[in-house]
Amino acid sequence: MDEKWHEIDTFAKKAIKEAGRKIVDSFDEVLKIQTKSNVNDLVTNMDKQIEKYFVEQIDKHYPDHRVLGEEGFGDQIQDMLGTVWIIDPIDGTMNFVHQQRNFAVSIGVFHEGEGKLGYIYDVVADELYHAQKGNGAFLNDEKLSPLKDVPIEEAIFSINATWLVPNRKVNHEQFIPLVHKVRGTRSYGSAAIELAYIAAGRLDGYISMRLSPWDFAGGKVLIEEVGGQLTDLNGEELSMVNNSHIFAGNPAVHQKVLKDYLNN
Ligand code: IPD
Ligand code: CA
Ligand code: CA
Repeated sequence: MDEKWHEIDTFAKKAIKEAGRKIVDSFDEVLKIQTKSNVNDLVTNMDKQIEKYFVEQIDKHYPDHRVLGEEGFGDQIQDMLGTVWIIDPIDGTMNFVHQQRNFAVSIGVFHEGEGKLGYIYDVVADELYHAQKGNGAFLNDEKLSPLKDVPIEEAIFSINATWLVPNRKVNHEQFIPLVHKVRGTRSYGSAAIELAYIAAGRLDGYISMRLSPWDFAGGKVLIEEVGGQLTDLNGEELSMVNNSHIFAGNPAVHQKVLKDYLNN
C-alpha cells in the first residue's frame, strides 16, 4: 500500500473518530426521528448530519473522489470508476434510537472497483475495526488473526428472526436445518457490527437479506483481509451499486453452508 493510501487512511480514521464524538454528544439532545420506506425504517437528524460531515470533509480534501452515502448527500453512483467512498453514517439506527448502543459508522473506500480501505466503528464500545488491503485488519491497535476453520457444529451464526419465519424476500425453510446444526444463533441489529464480528472471529457466519452496498462495503474489505468470504447466497460476488442478499463467513463455514445448506 503506497503513501497515498496511508494518507487517506489517516484522514479517514480522524474523520470517523470525530463523527463518533458528534454522535456521543448527541445523546444529551432530543433526536428528530423520521421514517423512510416503512414505519420501522428510521432515520434521525444525526444520520443526516454525520453523512453531511463526511461528504464535506471528503469534498474538501479529495475533490476527485465520489461518495455513495445512504442518506443521499453524496453523488449519484452507477459505477465504481475512480475512487468511491461508500458510507453508512449510522448502521443500526433502530439500536441508536432505542438503545444508544450497538450501532456503527461503516465506510468502505474502493478504487476502480477494488476495496482498498474498510472501517467499522462501534462508537459506544470505542472499537474501530480497520483494514488496508494487503496490510491486514485491526481492531483498534490489535492485529486481527487470519480466520481459522470452524466445524459447522461449533459455529455461531448471526441471522435475524425475520428470515426464519415466512417473509416476502426469501424461502425461510432453507435456513431451518442450518439453525438446528450450528452451535448457536445471534442477532445484533447492525449489519456492520455483525460483519466486523465475523472479521474478529466472534461470529462464524452472517446471513441477511436485501442489504445495500453501504451496509457491507466496509465489512467486505475487513473480512477479505482476514481470509473470510462475503458473497450473495449463491456464492457470487456482490454488486457495490445494487442491493443483495448477503452471506458472510469464516472460509470453511462459508463453503460448507453454500454447498450443504443453500443448495449450491
Ligand atoms: C440496517 C441494519 C440492520 C439490517 C437492515 C439495515 P440501517 O441498517 O444494518 O441490521 O438488518 O437491513 O437496513 O438502516 O440501520 O443503516
Ligand atoms: Ca445500514
Ligand atoms: Ca444507516
